[in-house]
Formats: sequence, C-alpha cells, structure tokens
Amino acid sequence: MKIAVFSTCSYDKEYLELLNTGHELTFYTESLNVQNALLTKGFDAVCIFVNDKADAEMMPLLADNGIKLILLRCAGFNNVDLVMAEEVGIKVLRVPSYSPEAVAEHAMAMVLTLNRKTHKAYNRVREGNFSLENLIGFNLHGCKVALIGTGHIGKAFYKILKGFGCHISAFDPFPDAELIKEGLKYENLENALKDAQIVSLHCPLSEDTLHMINANTLKLFKKGAMLINTSRGGLVATSDVIEALKTGQLGYLGLDVYEQERKLFFKDLSANIIQDDVISRLISFPNVLVTSHQGFFTKEAMTQIAEITFLNADSFANGKPLDNELLS
Ligand code: NAI
Repeated sequence: MKIAVFSTCSYDKEYLELLNTGHELTFYTESLNVQNALLTKGFDAVCIFVNDKADAEMMPLLADNGIKLILLRCAGFNNVDLVMAEEVGIKVLRVPSYSPEAVAEHAMAMVLTLNRKTHKAYNRVREGNFSLENLIGFNLHGCKVALIGTGHIGKAFYKILKGFGCHISAFDPFPDAELIKEGLKYENLENALKDAQIVSLHCPLSEDTLHMINANTLKLFKKGAMLINTSRGGLVATSDVIEALKTGQLGYLGLDVYEQERKLFFKDLSANIIQDDVISRLISFPNVLVTSHQGFFTKEAMTQIAEITFLNADSFANGKPLDNELLS
C-alpha cells in the first residue's frame, strides 16, 4: 500500500523503516490538517499520530483524495471523527496498547521528580550549591494515591505504586476484577479524590471526561495534593488548575499532555517566542513539571507501535479481520 505518514519525527521514520512489511512510505514532518490535506492525494492510507486532525471536516477531503484507511500510531482517538469516517467509507485502525508500562513508568518519574526535586538538585550541585533548602519531599510509602482509570496504563501504574508501598484507591466506571482481587478499593470519583495526596489520570478524553478536573473537583482535593496527567490535556481545565496552584490548593502538577499541545509539543521552539501564555505561566511555577507527551517514548513502545501499525496495514491490504478497528 502507498502510505502517507504525517507528524514524522526522526524516531518515527527510524522505527517505521526498520519494521516495514513492504509498504511504500512517504514521510511528512507536518501534522495533517485541512490546509495540507492535498498531500494525501494518490495514497491508499494515512498514518497519523495524536495531534493530527482527522475530524468531521477532514474526512470527506481524505475520501475524495482516495484514502481508504487511517492508521493511528497511538491508542487515543479523540482527534478522529469515527462517525464521519464510517460515512465516507474510511476504516480507522489503531494501536490499542503499546507498552502501558512505558507511560506508567513516566508517571512515576514525574511523581518522584516533583516530590524529591531531583531536577533542582541536579542543577544546584552543578553550580556548587550543596544546600538542601526547599528540597524536602515526602515518603511515598504509606502515601494515598487515587487512580482515575484503571485500564492498561492505570493497571501498570497500580503495580508500580504497590511496589512503593502506597495506599491506592481508584475510580473507573468499569472496575477491573483482577485488581479488586489484588485488594484495590474502587470508590466514586468524589471519594477517590478526597483523601488522596496524589491523583493520577489514566482515562480517555471523551465528552464525559472533558475538564473532569476543574474548579469544583479541585476543591475536593486534599490541600497541597499532587496531580499527574499523562492521558490527555483536555481532562484538565488548565485555567482552574493555575488558580489552584496560585492558592496552594494544588501543591504539585505533573503534565505530560496539555490541551493546546498541538502547536507546541514534538517541536523545537527554543529559538521562538512562545505565544501560548497559559503554558508559559504553567512552566513558571516551581512546583510544575511539564514534559511534551513523552510518556510512551521507549524503544519497546516504538517497536510495538511500528509492528502493530504494519500488522493493521497488512490485515487491511489482505482482506483479513481488522482486530484493531475503531467503530463509531
Ligand atoms: P484503556 O482503554 O486501557 O483504559 C482506560 C480506562 O479508563 C478504562 O478502564 C475505562 O473504563 C476508564 N474510564 C473511562 N471513562 C472513565 C471515567 N469517566 N473516569 C474514570 N475512568 C474512566 O486506556 P490506556 O491504554 O490505559 O490509556 C489511557 C489513556 O492514556 C489513553 O486514553 C490515552 O489518552 C493516554 N495515553 C497517553 C500516552 C502518553 O504518551 N502520555 C500514551 C498512551 C496513551
């Protein structure tokens, strides 16, 4: 198949070329959007990532250009209009899970960095400052953690937290029987948030979960609690979170995702003036850590993403069952 790959970074090209099962790949560094939809003309499929647009406006353009298949190099699909895809006859296949441990381990890296301030210690010591002033942390052993969402990633994070000796509760409309057997206590959202010192989000972005962390839910947090979001930026009402940081209601914030990340993440903007005042405010807080959607970014996950993407492409090309198809 002829596949147009969008939002290509050097590492995408490296893994896709290495594990290609015989498709003709054309790489574009740009994200797919309405303005550059013409680039898809003459291809059978587009291969896209989290910040490419495949919304209701885009689908007819893709269909007109002859696209029959969208290959998502990710699990989340909030950027794809599945109803419109079906209407114009485009199949959408995703990589449902790729090393959930990668994201869970990154969530723990964020917790440890924010808590023990190793990022500050690293810089201090390099400048000959060996003081411990303002570096105090808290023990994770015995700490109460709330997991919002216990699918693949939430489950992997649960196991890590258990290893640290944390007390874990969770909210998920579909509790996991295996985790209940292991002793995980499910609560409603309000109760899960109430006592926790750390809240970590692992649910998908949908109409139901959009801005689930907002001024009202932030009031339920224990004063000075830590919020970690490695799922999707839209789960959090960013302006409300900034207010909570200013009052100290929120004590720490770790974001691997950001609602307006499309214009920023995966790009080197170090020579530019950042136009997004919200991200600029966020990164000015000493108790905020922002990483640019790198939770998934391990060799193992990149290998799985490429392998499953080509498995999906091969299944479609050979008329085999589409196990990873997204239906509206
Ligand atoms: P999953 O589909 O295995 O699990 C999601 C869980 O959320 C399910 O158990 C579901 O029942 C639960 N859920 C649904 N609605 C909920 C609600 N309103 N409140 C609480 N829980 C709810 O998904 P997985 O693989 O664990 O991924 C979770 C999210 O992580 C993805 O949706 C994606 O947005 C994000 N992600 C981020 C990556 C990164 O690099 N930072 C990489 C991969 C995924």
